[in-house]
Amino acid sequence: MIKIQNITFKYDNSEILKDISFEVREKEKIVLLGINGSGKSTLLKIINGLIFPQKGKYFYKNEEINEKKLKEREFARKFRKEIVLLFQNPDTMIFNPTVYDEIAFGLRQLGISDIDDRVRYWANKLGIYKYLDKSPFELSGGEKQKVCLASLLAVEPEVMLLDEPTANLDPRTTGWLIDFLYELDLTTIITTHNLGLALELGERGLVLSEDHYLIYDGDIKEFMKDIEKLKKANLVHFHKHNNREDKHYHIHDF
Ligand SMILES: Nc1ncnc2c1ncn2[C@@H]1O[C@H](COP(=O)(O)OP(=O)(O)OP(=O)(O)O)[C@@H](O)[C@H]1O
Ligand SMILES: [Mg+2]
Repeated sequence: MIKIQNITFKYDNSEILKDISFEVREKEKIVLLGINGSGKSTLLKIINGLIFPQKGKYFYKNEEINEKKLKEREFARKFRKEIVLLFQNPDTMIFNPTVYDEIAFGLRQLGISDIDDRVRYWANKLGIYKYLDKSPFELSGGEKQKVCLASLLAVEPEVMLLDEPTANLDPRTTGWLIDFLYELDLTTIITTHNLGLALELGERGLVLSEDHYLIYDGDIKEFMKDIEKLKKANLVHFHKHNNREDKHYHIHDF
């Protein structure tokens, strides 16, 4: 469904993704791991067709995605409906006067007919129905994230890209979201640097190293057992613990 072929992406002159290749099959649940700045958000933006790599190719359903392809209106409309991205910071997504309009916006853009039904259905599903007439700017971080999720789900996409979706959520809502995403019959790619959560978010892990290479693609449980790979990704930390004997590696869960 998604094929990333030897992609290299640069901001200015620094390479943020280096020679990245992988494929994603329909309905796969993928966790994209890597420390701050490793390139996770950049990779999701490429898959969402917002930015384009300088080298390599990206295919979605066997169509090569590039700037030219996304200028074809009919194709762009279909692509934008099928593949959506939940941004890392919900504030960058929110701009409508009410929660209702926020959820309806994408549907109006795509010329979908049953807008009112969909807005109410997803607002209800995400527990934000009571805020429909409120300004989304007045909501808490977690509530804003739910509004953003509702606006994407209402489009009924095939692929959801979620950039640190649990960052603003409390443990109860995080648990709810994990179950909710698991039950959705969608292809999902979720980024996190939270190793504890990674196991819950998917079965297959893709791991970016600090120097922007893809250093692992496989079973996420196996990755968690591989201390050398965890060290290479800088996802574990060695603590000396002043005056304590128990020198060991920590998997940070925060
Ligand atoms: N618009 C931009 N212009 C220039 N450099 C950028 C831009 N966006 C990101 N970068 C740089 O690219 C690198 C990768 O950024 P990216 O946001 O993809 O990392 P990330 O893995 O998502 O990190 P985090 O865990 O902090 O979200 C960072 O060093 C960042 O400073
Ligand atoms: Mg990021």
